[in-house]
Amino acid sequence: MRAIAMTKPGDIEVLQTISLARPIPKAKQVLLQNLAIAIEPYDCHVRSGKIKVNNPLPLVLGSSLAGRIHAVGEKVTDLKVGQRVAASPHFRSYAEYTAVGRSQIALIPDNVTDIQAAAVALSGQTAWQLAEEILGSSLSVGALLINGASGNVGQILIQLLADHFSKIYVTTGSTSAAKLKRQFPQVEIVNSTTRLSPIVAIIDLVGNQAVSNYLKYLTSNGLLWSTVKQYSDRRCNLFSMKSNGQSLEKLLTAVAQSQVKVQIARVAPFNLKNLRHFQILQHQFGKLVLKF
Ligand SMILES: NC(=O)c1ccc[n+]([C@@H]2O[C@H](COP(=O)([O-])OP(=O)(O)OC[C@H]3O[C@@H](n4cnc5c(N)ncnc54)[C@H](OP(=O)(O)O)[C@@H]3O)[C@@H](O)[C@H]2O)c1
Repeated sequence: MRAIAMTKPGDIEVLQTISLARPIPKAKQVLLQNLAIAIEPYDCHVRSGKIKVNNPLPLVLGSSLAGRIHAVGEKVTDLKVGQRVAASPHFRSYAEYTAVGRSQIALIPDNVTDIQAAAVALSGQTAWQLAEEILGSSLSVGALLINGASGNVGQILIQLLADHFSKIYVTTGSTSAAKLKRQFPQVEIVNSTTRLSPIVAIIDLVGNQAVSNYLKYLTSNGLLWSTVKQYSDRRCNLFSMKSNGQSLEKLLTAVAQSQVKVQIARVAPFNLKNLRHFQILQHQFGKLVLKF
């Protein structure tokens, strides 16, 4: 099968097309014929060397996919060949086929496209799990701040949390403030010079210096969750998404019922040129997806 792998950490030229044997699913895995994959910051950081991993090279990256079940392992009894599913495996998605553990698989509802499903597999699933954790904690009623809300995790979080906080302050990238405000008029865009009222929760999706400023406004029993950085403040938690088909399936159901809107920036065919191009595109509002 055709796959695109990184040969070593570095700039986009380290991504190369390779030929690999089609994976054989293990007993608790399904083999997917991939329909769409999404560009994830994590894969880009591993390719560039910003995030170091110990996987052998060449390494097929890609952590968000939608695919059609091509074969099932002998212990998978509740899924069938031909079904459309999505998942966020740890790598191996930049390929025509990917074997994925049953526990990571979510069925895609009929009215959700392959592109939408791939787009939310990692970032949307992160937002879903984070929202569940936040809503399950004993926060008092009050304001929320999302740092980096213009990204793909942030946009889904706004939709999942908007009804649960009295106010949502957000920070955005340099080019996305107007687009975010158009999409979500209820949020208040702030920067480090804005005076805020007390906040009961902060979600940090950037990990920049500004967070220490926002911590001044966090109530003493408030909480901060960061997907990127561990802070020394006792109120801070480092959040890690745990790939789980059940949470992804709940999110896909919410997408199917139009409770969550998925923003797609661009779609292109899956090939080396487009993957290289998308891996270095900056300041996109919405997800970049490659379709098979
Ligand atoms: N721990 C986990 O399990 C986990 C899971 C998912 C994601 N993550 C991480 O969480 C982060 C966010 O993920 P994502 O998918 O939402 O990424 P994304 O789609 O690339 O979004 C990042 C957003 O942050 C904005 N931004 C950049 N600099 C900023 C600043 N100084 N202040 C405010 N906003 C700023 C960007 O705007 P511009 O585009 O205009 O620069 C962009 O809109 C990434 O680092 C990702 O790797 C971690």
